[in-house]
Amino acid sequence: MIVAIANHKGGSGKTTTSINLGVALANLDKKVLLIDFDPQGNLSYSLGLDENLPTIFDVFTGDKEIKDVVINCEGADVIPANMDLADIELSIQSVENRLFVLKEIIDPIKDQYDFIIIDCSPSKSLLTINALVLADKVISTILLDVLSLQGLNQINKTVNDVKNGFNNSLSFLGVLPVNVDLRNNISNEVLDYIKENFDLPLFDTFIRSNVKLIEAPSHGSSIFGYNRNSNGAKDYLSLAKEILINN
Ligand SMILES: Nc1ncnc2c1ncn2[C@@H]1O[C@H](COP(=O)(O)OP(=O)(O)O)[C@@H](O)[C@H]1O
Ligand SMILES: [Mg+2]
Repeated sequence: MIVAIANHKGGSGKTTTSINLGVALANLDKKVLLIDFDPQGNLSYSLGLDENLPTIFDVFTGDKEIKDVVINCEGADVIPANMDLADIELSIQSVENRLFVLKEIIDPIKDQYDFIIIDCSPSKSLLTINALVLADKVISTILLDVLSLQGLNQINKTVNDVKNGFNNSLSFLGVLPVNVDLRNNISNEVLDYIKENFDLPLFDTFIRSNVKLIEAPSHGSSIFGYNRNSNGAKDYLSLAKEILINN
């Protein structure tokens, strides 16, 4: 299953979820590929990867084969990214198959994996559209505040556009509330609003607010490498199990 972690809002837990869901699934013996598909390279940095490693950009330019840019990290395979990705975006603007560039690179290796997780950038960019064209499913992470509802509306629309135009089988795996503190009234109100007004599946698992999730990237490691007993590790393991039970 190819899952794009996408939301047009920045800071909504996409990268944290890509890493920790990916490593959780790898811990459950699934074969996982994580694709850092944000030119900011936050996923790569958070896993302690050198920013000079070859990236998907080198595959795109023909300088490397895909197998030469994949490296193993905490049991998951990872394709890193850095600012070079922004150059792909520029170079493909005028190419006829510009929406299918990532699909053409990943299709030959996709059967090697149970899960391919793509960490998207927040913008509605060509890169994000490429990820949605390749994906089977979308997870949208969301903070339980009012501005995030606007973000959810926007990504829902983008997903529908890509589904109708280029990828018939694309659908939502689920909306995932992150950084949740249900003692806040607004969190409960936003949650109720989503249930009543969006025709989107909501995961049973929420990711609670947990400082260990903020600390882990500075140790170059997932929450499982940094603190296995934290609520963050427990919540991402629950999410992985929920996905495995239902799919
Ligand atoms: N459950 C959580 N509890 C506390 N902080 C979180 C949680 N999830 C994410 N964060 C923090 O929120 C910030 C944004 O998260 P990030 O995953 O980088 O978002 P995005 O990739 O959508 O921009 C980061 O500093 C991250 O550590
Ligand atoms: Mg990110």
